Amino acid sequence: MRKLAAGNWKMNGLRDSLSEIGTLSETHASPAVDVLICPPATLITPARAAATASIAIGAQDCHAVSSGAHTGDIAAEMLVEAGASAIIVGHSERRSDHAETDAMVKAKAEAAIGAGAIAIVCLGETLEEREAGSTISVVAKQLAGSLPDGATAANTVIAYEPVWAIGTGKVATPEQIAEVHEALRIDLQDKMADGSDVRILYGGSVKAANATEIFALPNVDGALVGGASLTAEQFSPIITALEAAS
Ligand code: 13P
Repeated sequence: MRKLAAGNWKMNGLRDSLSEIGTLSETHASPAVDVLICPPATLITPARAAATASIAIGAQDCHAVSSGAHTGDIAAEMLVEAGASAIIVGHSERRSDHAETDAMVKAKAEAAIGAGAIAIVCLGETLEEREAGSTISVVAKQLAGSLPDGATAANTVIAYEPVWAIGTGKVATPEQIAEVHEALRIDLQDKMADGSDVRILYGGSVKAANATEIFALPNVDGALVGGASLTAEQFSPIITALEAAS
């Protein structure tokens, strides 16, 4: 399986930031792992133009249907036409800011796949859920509810992002990451014929300083990186660490 270093720029970036993608393209001309940058929707088309073929461009959300009266929303087909080859769905910031349920996330993931994009389905527990000892049951329920019908290892990626580790500088411990990724792997094997090959990414305060330790863990097939994906200077060593672990 080819590992995946994915960057989620969230609501950051104007045209100035495209130079970071140009730099990444030069530094990683033929990477040994898949590299993906998900800029804000406004930058997908110029990001695709700024990147070489070695860097994929993705989106951060999509609507569940392909067209209609949904002011302000963007359909998966539109994102693909703009240049996105992957779409993040169910990020915890969407789940909390926009009250997205597992059923909505599943419908969005199916829309992404239907449009020909890879669906990156995010899940993860809150601090309260971890402290209550319910992490494994929470992520299992999210996976069961959010995994799209028709999911294959080629069209679906899972990202485990503990909510309390996102943007906080608090990275989950290797034991915590390994435990959740193993549980997800077993569930994926149970639910899918090719569940052993589905990429499971870790996300939450990944940076160059902790990437090597995280990438050495079993069932960690890459990372979904927020803050440290905003500059080539910080994201490049994460890509290199993943290549070294491949
Ligand atoms: P940070 O890497 O900034 O913690 O964000 C993680 C994340 O939410 C990626 O989707």
